[in-house]
Amino acid sequence: MKHMTPRSLMPSRRAGSLRHTTSPSFSPATLLSLHRSSSFSRRWSTFNNGLVEGFPGAVGNTPLIKLRGLSEETGCEILGKAEFMNPGGSVKDRAALYIVRDAEERGLLTKGGTVVEGTAGNTGIGLAHICKARGYKCKIFMPNTQSQEKIDLLRSLGAEVIPVPAVAYDNPANYNHQARDFAQATPNCVWTDQFDNVANRYGHFSTTGPEIWFQTQHKVDAFTCSTGTGGTLAGVGLFLKQKKPSIKIILADPPGSVLYSYVKEGKLEREGSSITEGIGQGRITKNLKDAPIDDAIQIPDEETMSMFFRLLDEEGLFVGASAALNVVAAVKVAKKLGPGHTVATVLCDGAQRYYSRLLNKKWLDEKKLLHTLPDKYLQFLH
Ligand SMILES: Cc1ncc(COP(=O)(O)O)c(C=O)c1O
Repeated sequence: MKHMTPRSLMPSRRAGSLRHTTSPSFSPATLLSLHRSSSFSRRWSTFNNGLVEGFPGAVGNTPLIKLRGLSEETGCEILGKAEFMNPGGSVKDRAALYIVRDAEERGLLTKGGTVVEGTAGNTGIGLAHICKARGYKCKIFMPNTQSQEKIDLLRSLGAEVIPVPAVAYDNPANYNHQARDFAQATPNCVWTDQFDNVANRYGHFSTTGPEIWFQTQHKVDAFTCSTGTGGTLAGVGLFLKQKKPSIKIILADPPGSVLYSYVKEGKLEREGSSITEGIGQGRITKNLKDAPIDDAIQIPDEETMSMFFRLLDEEGLFVGASAALNVVAAVKVAKKLGPGHTVATVLCDGAQRYYSRLLNKKWLDEKKLLHTLPDKYLQFLH
C-alpha cells in the first residue's frame, strides 16, 4: 500500500434519501487545525481532572500499558493502549461516539430516531450504550457467527439484534447491506456505515493518535494493529505519520483476510481462516483507503492464542484475541527494529466477551488450537 496523502477523514454530506454520511476532501493540515479548533474535539476529547460528562465523556483517554515481560525480552518498550477500559469495554466506543456525534451535528439524527448498524459486535455495543445515553433506538444486524456473550450483552443494553447469515460483502444478504437497506426504508433512521464512514477514523485521528503521541512523549517509533473497519489503524497512522514521518505503521492481519496480500503485493487474495473476531477484511474500506501503511505482518492463530494466555499469565491482562494478535505483531516489529525502540499497539477489548470460546477446552480443540498451547496454560481452561 502506498503512502498516499489522505483526501478525506471527515464525512459531510447527505446521500440522497439515505441518511448516512459520505466524505468530502480534507488535507491532513486542515484536519489538524479542525481537530484543534472544533467544538467537536473540545466537547468530546477533554479530560478535566477525571470528571467527565456522561458515558460519551468517559470514552477515550485510556492508559498506555508497558508490557513488562515483552519489553524486557525485546529490549524495546512494548506498549498496549488499554482500550478495554473504555466505558463500553472496547476500542469501538470511540468510533461509535464519533459516528453518532457526527450524525447529530449534521442534523441527521433527531429525537427518538434510530441508529442502525451492521456490526461484528463491539461497535454495536458502543452504539447501544451511546444510543441509551442520547435517547435513540439502536438496531444491529450481526453475522450469526459471533459469540453469544456479545449478542446477549447487546440485547441487555436495549438494542434490537438481528443475526443474519455470515455471507461475503458482495452478497446482498451481507449484514452490512441489510443494515443499509433497513435505514433506507425507515424514516428518521441513520445507518452508521462504520466501514466506509470516515467519522470512524476521524475519531482515532482526533483522540487515539494524539493520546499515544503524548503518552509516549513523542518517542513512539512504530504503531501496529489489526483492522476490521480500518478506523483505528488509519486514524492513528495518519495522526502519527504527520507528527513523525519516520514512524513505521504496520498492519497486523489474521489468516483469511486480504489485507496482508494487498499491502505486500497489491493483490486482494486470502487464504485460511481465523478464530479472531472483529478483524480481518475482504476489501479496502474507505476508512482504510490511503492510510499510510509501511508494511504488514500475518499472525497465525497459534501465536495469537499463545500470546492470549501469556498476557494473562505474565501481565495479568485478560484481553481478547485481536489484542493478543496485536501484541504478537508489536513484538515482531520490535524484534525487527532492534533494542531501544518504542512500539505501540492496541488492546482492543477484554476477554470476558469470549469466555465461552477462548477459555473453553472443547472449543479450542475443535479449532485445532488446544494441542498448540504450552501445558502451563491449560490451568486457565474450563
Ligand atoms: C475486538 C476488535 N478488535 C479490533 C477491531 C478493529 O478495529 P477497527 O474497526 O478500528 O479496524 C474490532 C472492530 O470491530 C474489534 O471488534
